[in-house]
Amino acid sequence: MELEEIGKQAVAEIKEAKDADSLEKIKVKYLGRKQGIITDIFKRLAESDLEEKRKRGPVAQRVKSDIEEAISVRTGEIKGKNEYVDVTVPPKREETGHLHLVTQVENDIRRIFEGMNFSVIDGPEIEEEKYNFDSLNIPADHPAREMWDTFWVKPVSASGEKKSKYLLRTHTSPVQVRYMERHKPPFQIISPGRVFRYEATDASHETNFHQLEGLMIGRGISLANLKFVIEEFFRRFFEGTPVKVQFRSSYFPFVEPGVEVDVKLGDGKWLEMAGAGMVHPSVLKAVKYDPSKWQGFAFGFGIERLIMVKYG
Ligand code: PHE
Repeated sequence: MELEEIGKQAVAEIKEAKDADSLEKIKVKYLGRKQGIITDIFKRLAESDLEEKRKRGPVAQRVKSDIEEAISVRTGEIKGKNEYVDVTVPPKREETGHLHLVTQVENDIRRIFEGMNFSVIDGPEIEEEKYNFDSLNIPADHPAREMWDTFWVKPVSASGEKKSKYLLRTHTSPVQVRYMERHKPPFQIISPGRVFRYEATDASHETNFHQLEGLMIGRGISLANLKFVIEEFFRRFFEGTPVKVQFRSSYFPFVEPGVEVDVKLGDGKWLEMAGAGMVHPSVLKAVKYDPSKWQGFAFGFGIERLIMVKYG
């Protein structure tokens, strides 16, 4: 066959190639190093005399580059054919981040308490002095106010007249009072949220942290109920990791008796997790509940403390 004929045939075959594999076979057939048709022609040319080389050399060269050119064009076409976009395929979901641990743990806690029939209540972060302190049995000159280092807000209304004093709440306990004022017992609530203290910071203290308040009011509620709910909460929160719980007698003006709750995971250290106790009769009276009829307990967890213990 004439050189040019071979070239034409090769190009025709290349154009017909259906996929990368058959294209590769054609390439080997013509240009393969060991036995390619074109390669052989070049080998023979190299052995021929000068005149033959002069005559056929440039033709062979052109045929070879035609074939190479056709292969590269066809390669592009085959690739392009396979790289179609199926617009009906649902997109892969990109991981763009995750919820903050405080939010995650807050959600976990909510789920656990909702499972024990508690309702979730919200309260304001800027609070009246009356709710943060007075109605929790902490009157203005009570030394217990020193337990909470406080950010006060300037007590002036738009018209310039003096209003009741406001502060960034130092704990979530005021939500207890706000809720009791508006509801009849029995009930059981929790209230997670931000609290603020004018405090020196260290590994376990912050000026802004999160608490989870709990309140259960009913008939004949006792410390035993408090102990059960708190221990059951820890059992569920730490998901099977053995946890030791310890109740230490303590003082908060709005409970009597008052306790602090420490937990210890495995060989870890004891860490204080919550204040708690039986709601003080003065607090019940302040919201017009009869303390001889209604009793209850309250607790306040530090959410960051729970995170520290659970996630190290
Ligand atoms: N409010 C208390 C604190 O912030 C914790 C607490 C809540 C104690 C409820 C007893 C009952 O320290």
